[in-house]
Amino acid sequence: MLTDALNKLPDILKKDLDQNLCVCNQVIKRDVIQAIVDGADSVEKVCAKTYASDGNGCCRHQIRGLIAALAPKSETE
Ligand code: FES
Repeated sequence: MLTDALNKLPDILKKDLDQNLCVCNQVIKRDVIQAIVDGADSVEKVCAKTYASDGNGCCRHQIRGLIAALAPKSETE
């Protein structure tokens, strides 16, 4: 559930939930978190669900950070 996921995040990662995390494709952070909650445990899977990181990839690091916080042990890149 999204609320449970948000409770797991450190405060710094909870900010700006309705701002674009992926500026290139205008994907808000809340949607990226929802995709991870729904089982996207790699940047590629988050991209497949939301199109985040499908631009020039500049937000990949942030997505990896969220995956590491919410779905630890699954990101192997
Ligand atoms: S901000 Fe997401 S690909 Fe550029």
